[in-house]
Amino acid sequence: MNKLLRLLVLLLIIPAYAQQGGMWIPSLLKGMNEKEMKSLGMKMSASDIYDVNHSSLKDAVPHFNGGCTSEVISPKGLLLTNHHCGYGEIQAHSTVEHDYLTDGFWAMSLEEELPNPGMEVTFIVRIEDVTNKILEGVSILKSEEDKQKKIQDNIAQVTKSSPKESYQENSIRTFYEGNQYMLFVTETYKDVRLVGAPPSSIGKFGSDTDNWVWPRHTGDFSLFRIYANKDNLPAEYSEDNVPYTPKHYFPISLGGIEEGDFTLVFGYPGRTQEYLPSVAVEQLIDVINPAKIEVRDAALKVTDAFMRKDKQIKIQYASKYASIANYWKKWIGETQGLKKTNAVAAKKTFEKAFLANAKKAGKMDEYGNLFNDFEKYYNEIEPYQLSRDYFIEVAIRNVELLTIGYRLYQLEQIYNARGAQSFTDRKNNTVKSLEGTYKDYSKKVDEKVFEQLIALYAEKSPEQFLPDMLKNANTQELTQNIYTNSKLTSYDGVKELLNTSNEPEEIIKTLNADPGYELIKAMMNAYIEKVAPKYEELTLELDALQRTYMKGILELSPKDARIFPDANSTMRVTYGQVKGYEPRDAVYYQPVTYLDGVIEKYVPGDYEFDVPQKLINLYNTKNYGPYGENGKMPVCFLGTNHTTGGNSGSPAIDAKGNLIGLNFDRVWEGTMSDVYYDPAICRNIMVDIRYVLFIIDKYAGAKRLIDEMELVNVKKR
Ligand code: ARG
Ligand code: ASP
Repeated sequence: MNKLLRLLVLLLIIPAYAQQGGMWIPSLLKGMNEKEMKSLGMKMSASDIYDVNHSSLKDAVPHFNGGCTSEVISPKGLLLTNHHCGYGEIQAHSTVEHDYLTDGFWAMSLEEELPNPGMEVTFIVRIEDVTNKILEGVSILKSEEDKQKKIQDNIAQVTKSSPKESYQENSIRTFYEGNQYMLFVTETYKDVRLVGAPPSSIGKFGSDTDNWVWPRHTGDFSLFRIYANKDNLPAEYSEDNVPYTPKHYFPISLGGIEEGDFTLVFGYPGRTQEYLPSVAVEQLIDVINPAKIEVRDAALKVTDAFMRKDKQIKIQYASKYASIANYWKKWIGETQGLKKTNAVAAKKTFEKAFLANAKKAGKMDEYGNLFNDFEKYYNEIEPYQLSRDYFIEVAIRNVELLTIGYRLYQLEQIYNARGAQSFTDRKNNTVKSLEGTYKDYSKKVDEKVFEQLIALYAEKSPEQFLPDMLKNANTQELTQNIYTNSKLTSYDGVKELLNTSNEPEEIIKTLNADPGYELIKAMMNAYIEKVAPKYEELTLELDALQRTYMKGILELSPKDARIFPDANSTMRVTYGQVKGYEPRDAVYYQPVTYLDGVIEKYVPGDYEFDVPQKLINLYNTKNYGPYGENGKMPVCFLGTNHTTGGNSGSPAIDAKGNLIGLNFDRVWEGTMSDVYYDPAICRNIMVDIRYVLFIIDKYAGAKRLIDEMELVNVKKR
């Protein structure tokens, strides 16, 4: 390209590039968002995305089992989501003879599709702004507590009285930290069957090493199908149910993608904190994240060493390890990213401008003290927050003996609050559910984890809140004592503790004599007495400050400012473009990976990087059918869409509303996007839809599924 042309292209790209980040409410896209999306190349209108009177894209995007996102991809209710979102269901159907995690699963007919009791998907029928109704009668109240109570009453009232069909639900959620309220009318389908999943060596290729990392080569998808009753309405599982006919399903594009193409990602992001003040971000970087990372670091090192030596332990701990490692790795990336992008300085600059605007608007009474107050309360809450995080990481998340002990502690609380019958009911449930826990429990692993973590807890969590048992304790001796004498180290032991007597009083007495129970109870009591009350009080103050800050940001910014509400597990739209990035000096990452990269990473027999022989054969013969491109098979690609946990399984949609990809992760350098989105390095990672089709068709031979889809932009060749 000649220089002038290149400059021209740059000038055209830059303004569009700046308009990115944000998770927008689908019912409010008209105006600024629609204009931006069109400037980025979108060929649809806002009402193609969300409409109440006609079918629209939103009708094809259900919340998947409360955590992930999924999309309908055929007129027969075929549903696409991630492999890591369907993992629990795939695992639940697996046995030693049929190991669907290892070998994959493909239903070759409707009859072979597998029901999943308890799982559900939820569609959004309609979204309505109910802010005025919810805030009615609130401003005249004086105390924060009374206000919150009135809001809760209004929410209950409006939820009950808003019109809906009998098979629908109403729910109300808050946006902009309590400055806006929205009503959601939803439909939940409860008969959702497993249709297909690739082997983990495709669906989880790269596992923990590649997690949060680009370049990525994971075929992170699985297939389900929604079933409905004869009237196409939600129903519990029944043999008589039929495949659901959707209001909308996504046509699938075989046209491929190129850098700069428009991408829209539609889903249910869980939680972000984009409007934290600079003091809070500083605290996150310097105090909170490092503490949590250190605890998990120790737990993971211990577990990993055992897993490498012992096959059985590897199987028992694989899923637990992955879930602990997931956020451990995210926090490390987040901390580095926040430092590298100078997020604190950027927030400080923003705060200065905010105050200047407040002054101009004559609103210093309301906003003038905001940042001083933030600083005061964040300083005050720091030791409480830290103590709480240590407690959660050590006792609730990482040491299994303490986690189990915590459940028994809850049992004692239930007896105190609700008496013998509740105690016995709960006890029976606990005994039953602990069977699964102990199936994957190794005393040796847990003892070593305990020894390391309890030492960290005793040394590093704020001393003034420690239980006496842990002040100046010899943690090595404590470990030895507990893992020699506590009954909590085996399922038989726990059953013995809980079945000593029919009398709850007696059981509780026995429990309290157990050294493991004694410790968790002491930790819990210390937390409840010394940490929780003040923590809750300060949190309420900080919530109120954050609400005021948000109100100010909304009120003092220009009309068309790009202010989006933090993620709250409700449906959002985020748009951007296919784009590479520079992770560090002199390194540029291309936005597309190919099957060649899978073969480059291949380590025969490795638990993360093994490749199925059949895939190698397909690679060697270049048997890609209509899914390949110039003799290569695309696998994953990057976009500038602003996503977070919960966006896994989200559809990636092209300018005209066709499916081009499946969102599943973010790049490590950009994981700070939950706190601070920087368009230079924040990228979401998607599986190219052509790779999904290739695996279904050429790898699995499940052509019947391809046949029910609507393929568009099929290149003639
Ligand atoms: N990092 C992605 C997300 O937060 C994927 C996690 C699942 N994969 C894994 N290897 N743990 O959910
Ligand atoms: N992997 C995440 C999920 O499961 C997505 C993300 O955090 O980017 O939702």
